[in-house]
Amino acid sequence: MPESPWYKQAIIYQINVISYFDGLGTGRGNLTGLTQKLDYLQSLGVDCIWLMPITKSPLRDGGYDVSDMFAINPDYGDLDDFAVLVKEAHNRGLRIMVEMIPNHTSDQHPWFQASHDPSHPEHEKYRDYYVWSVTDQKYRDARIIFLDFEKSNWTFDPLRGEYFWHRFYHHQPDLNYDNPEVQKAMMRVIQFWIDQGADAIRVDAPPYLIEREGTNCENLPETHAYYKRLRKFVEAYAPDTMLLAEANQWPEDTREYFGDGDEFHMNFHFPLMPRLFMALAKADRTPIEQILARTPELPENCQWGIFLRCHDELTLEMVTPEERQFMWDYYAPQPEMRINLGIRRRLAPLLDNDPRCIRLLHSILLSFIGSPVMYYGDEIGMGDNINLPDRDGLRTSMQWDDSPNGGFSKADASRLRLPVIDDPVFGYRKVNVAAAEADPGSLLNWLRNMIRIRKQHPVFGAGRLTMLAPANKQILAYLRDDGDARVLVVANLSAETQKIGVKELFGPTSRWSDLIDGTTFQTNQDIQLEPYGFHWLLPD
Ligand code: GLC
Repeated sequence: MPESPWYKQAIIYQINVISYFDGLGTGRGNLTGLTQKLDYLQSLGVDCIWLMPITKSPLRDGGYDVSDMFAINPDYGDLDDFAVLVKEAHNRGLRIMVEMIPNHTSDQHPWFQASHDPSHPEHEKYRDYYVWSVTDQKYRDARIIFLDFEKSNWTFDPLRGEYFWHRFYHHQPDLNYDNPEVQKAMMRVIQFWIDQGADAIRVDAPPYLIEREGTNCENLPETHAYYKRLRKFVEAYAPDTMLLAEANQWPEDTREYFGDGDEFHMNFHFPLMPRLFMALAKADRTPIEQILARTPELPENCQWGIFLRCHDELTLEMVTPEERQFMWDYYAPQPEMRINLGIRRRLAPLLDNDPRCIRLLHSILLSFIGSPVMYYGDEIGMGDNINLPDRDGLRTSMQWDDSPNGGFSKADASRLRLPVIDDPVFGYRKVNVAAAEADPGSLLNWLRNMIRIRKQHPVFGAGRLTMLAPANKQILAYLRDDGDARVLVVANLSAETQKIGVKELFGPTSRWSDLIDGTTFQTNQDIQLEPYGFHWLLPD
């Protein structure tokens, strides 16, 4: 087996810096605070830390509304603090992934300020940096993404007397990629962050760069052409840098983002995610089987990113309307749990805080196709707060211990941006890192062990995945195989004990042993699967 590129063996851990750790006593998380928590991340076993946007922003969309791509939001620190973070991370063998948001800026960005104001001294230079129109009737086949908040993809600007185009919030005007100056300017952004030491870039909302009449304005060839140029630049400038696309699309369309291995290195597998939850809810592996059958092979050196939860709603864009309704009814019974086409809840509350289900889904995350992406706080089973607006309820402060503010900040609670979760089930007094570290049976300690096991077996990162088809649909079974090593994963999606013969799964092999607890199974023996139980089996 040739050595695979680092991102194929990586476990990515996503952080909302403003909510992670306040090392300065300001009430907001910052880079200094994050740097102090690198030992914790190292002990968890993750490899790459994904920082949600840290650049200057009015924070009306969690920083995805950028007002300066070359400066750090002063609440988080400055470029020197970033350099320290990178150095300290690298000293521990951790990589840093930052965000590039190519599609849009904040309306506070100087480019937009110049573009929309004809009296601005730089108006001429920037007038075509955004997508302007005298009518709001263009590109009507493009869907509205933030359905709960926006009625149109056009907003009228009184200063310029024209409409501007935006696929997201009306305060996030889309950049105009038909303008070569914009293309060049965004290339400089990626160069800048590579220069600052970033090892990987998550490219936000990539499908929407270009608009063409008569199309849905997503995944257009011109958009792909731009990403290929970007990749070419990265390949020449810093070839070890990984580009991760956030293209929330069906597998066939997603496939295009890998090109011939000359576009993105990674892309999230969005359609898989809700189907993991669906299979669990229905105690039936069919949804996973169906989406895997639709998942194309990737060019060599490309990799899926798979995840359970993230900072956004659990998106139900890539499911059928019936499946969406099922997911809403099952996982979001209260209307406040829903947002746009999704569910704004964290992992533990979604799964009724059932440790068996939480571990089962993590065992799939860590053994299925692709590199796992974890969301901060899920490793200790943090809850959410559906009373907060937009997606803030899933972005609350990391709960470090049972001291005031959950140990997140020494500042007075009134200075915190979001209240710390403080309910009897998920509150910081009970759910926190210190308590989890002290408890050998905690989710955190279990995950550390699972991550360690995964990393001992490169087949999980780079091997093929073959679905097996036992007659009992409540059992999910797949084989990971890289030519050298084979691991058989069996999981019980139901709340009842199940039995299955190894022979039924995989023909005669002398003996299998469980990588997790060392149990061995003879070929003729039945494997017992506890409710929501699973095994990672290695042939002897
Ligand atoms: C991406 C981000 C999301 C943001 C949107 C608009 O989907 O994940 O948080 O709101 O882009 O920038």
